[in-house]
Amino acid sequence: MGRLISIASGKGGVGKTTVTANLGTALAKLGKKTLVIDADIAMANLGMLFGLHSAPITLHDVLIENIDIHDAMYDGPFGLKIVPSGLTLSSYRKADPDKLRGVLRSLEDEFDFVLVDVPAGVDVSARAAVGSTKEVIIVTTPDPAALADAMKMRMTAEQLGVSPIGAIVNMRRKESWEAKTREIERFLELRVLGEIPEDPEVRRSWYLKHPLPVVARKESSPAAKAFLAIASKLAGTKVRPKKRSFLDSLLSVFRRR
Ligand SMILES: Nc1ncnc2c1ncn2[C@@H]1O[C@H](COP(=O)(O)OP(=O)(O)O)[C@@H](O)[C@H]1O
Ligand SMILES: [Mg+2]
Repeated sequence: MGRLISIASGKGGVGKTTVTANLGTALAKLGKKTLVIDADIAMANLGMLFGLHSAPITLHDVLIENIDIHDAMYDGPFGLKIVPSGLTLSSYRKADPDKLRGVLRSLEDEFDFVLVDVPAGVDVSARAAVGSTKEVIIVTTPDPAALADAMKMRMTAEQLGVSPIGAIVNMRRKESWEAKTREIERFLELRVLGEIPEDPEVRRSWYLKHPLPVVARKESSPAAKAFLAIASKLAGTKVRPKKRSFLDSLLSVFRRR
């Protein structure tokens, strides 16, 4: 049985789409049967990173007309499969995010990894996306605002019964004032699976005539190396959630009030 993992953050612009695309590409490169899917159905970006902005069938069609999800899958690098979302607001308004859960569960036996790009926030569409998976990776930058929102997403995932398996710290600039890895782990009560440096090659991916995530384009770049390291950790061993004591769980109940 494969792993259904959502890539979520709370805050927008911290790198969910970037992480979904690059981690998916890296897992495919390691020989894992991998699907990435754009559940940010309002602000669909994932397909654009693979040059799929004019895909004829998208997740919107699946969520509107019950079209088979396989008809919305496109080929990416190293055998990766991609399900983009539609770019028009009219089809977004008709799409029903609650259908996502059934659709994803039907793919569990077919793929080793299904990575789901989650919208920002913790409202209906973000909850539908996270709730359709079994595990979540929290993406954050080492900044207080992103960390506060990451914590809200972590708690939301727990309320939905989805296990947070770790955090990815993105856009690390190594400034002295940034939160340190240990501080982030203590704050989120999560292990950090890896840190992605701020790397201009990542941003460049969007501007190419034939867009591709940096892992498929420039393996030697610092960000690509970091993504590949996280992917081998995920592919090699099942990363288990940090064991929480009874008192930890009790504390989190109080924090939710
Ligand atoms: N490690 C990184 N280094 C440099 N730019 C990055 C990095 N990660 C993301 N970006 C850039 O930041 C912007 C937001 O990233 P994106 O993945 O779209 O965030 P989200 O999906 O969380 O809104 C994009 O322009 C992306 O190219
Ligand atoms: Mg995004």
